[in-house]
Amino acid sequence: MPDAITPGGVIGRDTARQEARAKVTGAAQYPSDIPLPGVAHAFLVTSGISRGRILRWHLEAGRAVPGVLDILTHENAAQDSAPIPPTKGGGGSTTTLQSDHVWHDGQIIAVVIAESFEAAREAAHKVRADYAEEVPAASFDSPGVEIQVLEETLEAHEDPKVGDAAAAFAAGTVTVDATYGTPIQHHNPIELFTTTCFWEGDRLTILEPSQFVQGLASTVAKQIGTSPDKVRVISPLVGGAFGSKGGATARTSWVAVAARRLGRPVKLVANRSQGFTIATYRAETRQRVRLAAGHDGRLQALLHEGWEVSSRPSNYNVQGTETTARIYACPNVWTRVSVVHADRNTPGFMRAPPDLPYGFGLESAMDELAVALDMDPVELRRINDARNEPIKGLPYTSRSLLECFDAAGSAFGWSRRERRPGSMREGDWRIGWGCAASYYPAKISAACARVTLTSGGARLDIAAHEIGTGAWTVLAMTAADQLGLEPEQVEVHLGDSTLPAAGLAAGSSHTASICNAVALACRELRDRLALAVATENAGPFAGQEPAALRLEGGTLRGAGGVAEPLSATFARTGPLDAYAEYIPHGNPPDAPDKLRQGTPMTTGGAQLPDRIQYGFGAQFVEVRVHARTGEVRVPRITGAFAAGRIMNPRTAHSQLMGGMIWGIGSALLEATEIDRRNAHYVNDNLSEYLIAVNADVPAVEVIIVPEEDRLVNPLGIKGIGELGCVGTNAAIANAVFHATGRRLRELPIRPEHLL
Ligand code: MOS
Repeated sequence: MPDAITPGGVIGRDTARQEARAKVTGAAQYPSDIPLPGVAHAFLVTSGISRGRILRWHLEAGRAVPGVLDILTHENAAQDSAPIPPTKGGGGSTTTLQSDHVWHDGQIIAVVIAESFEAAREAAHKVRADYAEEVPAASFDSPGVEIQVLEETLEAHEDPKVGDAAAAFAAGTVTVDATYGTPIQHHNPIELFTTTCFWEGDRLTILEPSQFVQGLASTVAKQIGTSPDKVRVISPLVGGAFGSKGGATARTSWVAVAARRLGRPVKLVANRSQGFTIATYRAETRQRVRLAAGHDGRLQALLHEGWEVSSRPSNYNVQGTETTARIYACPNVWTRVSVVHADRNTPGFMRAPPDLPYGFGLESAMDELAVALDMDPVELRRINDARNEPIKGLPYTSRSLLECFDAAGSAFGWSRRERRPGSMREGDWRIGWGCAASYYPAKISAACARVTLTSGGARLDIAAHEIGTGAWTVLAMTAADQLGLEPEQVEVHLGDSTLPAAGLAAGSSHTASICNAVALACRELRDRLALAVATENAGPFAGQEPAALRLEGGTLRGAGGVAEPLSATFARTGPLDAYAEYIPHGNPPDAPDKLRQGTPMTTGGAQLPDRIQYGFGAQFVEVRVHARTGEVRVPRITGAFAAGRIMNPRTAHSQLMGGMIWGIGSALLEATEIDRRNAHYVNDNLSEYLIAVNADVPAVEVIIVPEEDRLVNPLGIKGIGELGCVGTNAAIANAVFHATGRRLRELPIRPEHLL
């Protein structure tokens, strides 16, 4: 284990975002805001069918629109870009302009370029394709879907199992056997899906909001057949991502191709509805959970089977059983995941991709088991708490699930709950209290950073991503902490693929990865500075022991009260810099090279050979269900979370609160409706796709439970970007049961389900 890096006082301090003022005043520049002289505008043409072929194009009316410069279709651009190779992250997988094939509704089939956005849009509406249309399969149970049992068809796939769960379930004393469903959900970041490209000779620059700048650069380089060092991606701020900007999508290389054909910069801002089909989304799941326990509540069998929709060519799946198999102590566990291939766009990451849907299944079933046992649901979790995960018996690096239940339960007043459903009522409102556990793998990636001491403070270079999480601020805080400065004295440069590689900002892994890299680079820099001044012939520190030197508040201090402002030191030594590569436990030694080549190196959670590392939480919810209308309100929700060291309490609080609000949306509001006749998304705009707004979240209480984990990484950080949104949906469904006696197993819960 690497030496612990001891925080020096800035880490853990409540700190405002560095970019806060720029964001709220409108001064912040997102990638499509960066002005470029001579830019031409692109508008996407998307398919009007969900399955079939394009027979011929009618482009004349589009070409006749004044200002139109070019129209890319499969007939004139197919050779200019290869499709994105299928990855676990989804995103690519289907062809777009590479062929006449239509895989899904809303697929990119042409790109119009014009002098103005308006001209491009008008022309896009005037071009027309003739299709040979086939009947598409929309979702589960549609004729024509193909069901693929992953373990039987993919060599690399492993479903966690231990013991003989079928036999233990059959012999079970108290059992639950229930099927749950979670809906299609779509990303609606405030910043739309944009791409701007320009060429300087054979060098391509891409301005695009991204959670992985090196990944995007390398994918586009492969697609258009150039070397990755000729492609630069710039993404200084991202206006909402949550997974939707993690992998390359088809639009990017076509904008690059258009810019090369025209010899001008080209900018694309896809509209809201196109975002539903050109980007990734959360696919619907169906899950069967079977639990068996003795009268004492101890689990004897846990079986969790999941089915997930994906596109025809892609195996994208989230396999949340990797986690649900390992949360509770149980001697007999069986899991299986299948992909149901339909005529749909390929799904991809969306906040807590595996654990939000699969956590709904497990945490609902645990509540059903508690009811069957006539036991308090918190007590059931206590009885089945695990010190080691049950599949391989690996120890948790730390696990504070019960501490979270205790902290949130007492703040909520859980002990006053009457167990019988339907026991609380106020006028027409039935009141229910429910709870559930939250869990999310602590994953970490290799990351590299360069720190330079300047006369005014420090400069930090790292290809990290500010996707709204506060990464910018914790980076400055970490460098300040380790160098004895204030965060304002650290100039952060991030979001650029030419900077030291820092991995994918996803899987709640980014803060742990980048801050440990920065801390390493700072330690190296301090050592260099100490050595430089201690080995000078003259100067105040000449001959001192380097280890005795301290850098504090821009002043260098040595033994015997010797002190010197850093600016004076610089006048002699000149600027000093240090570069470090942080390789976390579980990453191979060549991880930094792989990162530079665009391969995500995130690992941890349940994927390590010798231990398991997770963050935990517990959520308690009050619901009010209107007896006449079925309307469900959530007047209050309390969550407690333990996730190792909290770098910045202010942004951590926001992340966890935002997660819980996301969870309320997941339980009651968010769903994309699909027309099953033509596999078309119906509510593809923000007016009809419902998300939680302020009126839906009167009181959200976040409690951070202190936790020290010295194993997980040198700074002891577990991620919190996704933890807060796991389990909320089940806590709400469990509370609805408590209010009404009705067990609802399909999300979102709607008034009509309660009439
Ligand atoms: Mo997140 S879904 O890991 O960006």
